[in-house]
Amino acid sequence: MNLEAALALLKGRRTNLRMDPERAVPDSLIATLCEVAVWAPNHKLTEPWRFAAITGDARKDLGELAARVLVDGGVTDPARLQKARVKYLRAPVMLVVACAPDPDPVRHAEDLAAVAAGTQNLLLAATSAGLASYWGTGLTARSVEMLAFCDFEAGSEIVAMVYLGWPTSEAPPTGRRPPVVTWVKD
Ligand SMILES: Cc1cc2nc3c(=O)[nH]c(=O)nc-3n(C[C@H](O)[C@H](O)[C@H](O)COP(=O)(O)O)c2cc1C
Repeated sequence: MNLEAALALLKGRRTNLRMDPERAVPDSLIATLCEVAVWAPNHKLTEPWRFAAITGDARKDLGELAARVLVDGGVTDPARLQKARVKYLRAPVMLVVACAPDPDPVRHAEDLAAVAAGTQNLLLAATSAGLASYWGTGLTARSVEMLAFCDFEAGSEIVAMVYLGWPTSEAPPTGRRPPVVTWVKD
């Protein structure tokens, strides 16, 4: 890939939740996205990434879990709880990306950075495949219940809850300010 094509891919990826929840994404494609994620830079090759692909009725179970987490957090507003119950039904696939724990805080910080870089790999590959994607986070992602649901080791940290699906329309264009760069030259 030349620079022009790389820039088009990097700048063309958009957070987009406008997707068809009824149109399945093949397991083989989900597996490819996970496979490309692990090619991110990773100090000491600790391979801290963990993935869980949640599809079909399991998305409803995930929604029930999200509502329970809110209730445990003191939320009583029925509208908010109902929203949590159905939010994962907006995508045919929820791909959860987590970082395995490490007792060394420096190593853990590096591992988290690697998993975030891996998530970007995954999003770019998804964009190339024509998929819409949306990197979500939130209270559910920080719950121990979520780790158990995904069969992740206790102490793991969920880095992304990626909504994946075939787009029904494009996301509105967005922009970026020019980067702040310190040029240090002699
Ligand atoms: C760590 C992380 C967490 C995010 N969590 C959310 C989220 O919970 N809800 C949301 O709407 N977007 C979330 N996003 C997506 C950003 O809102 C999005 O990237 C930003 O608006 C820029 O849009 P773009 O991705 O189309 O360039 C998250 C992005 C990152 C990197």
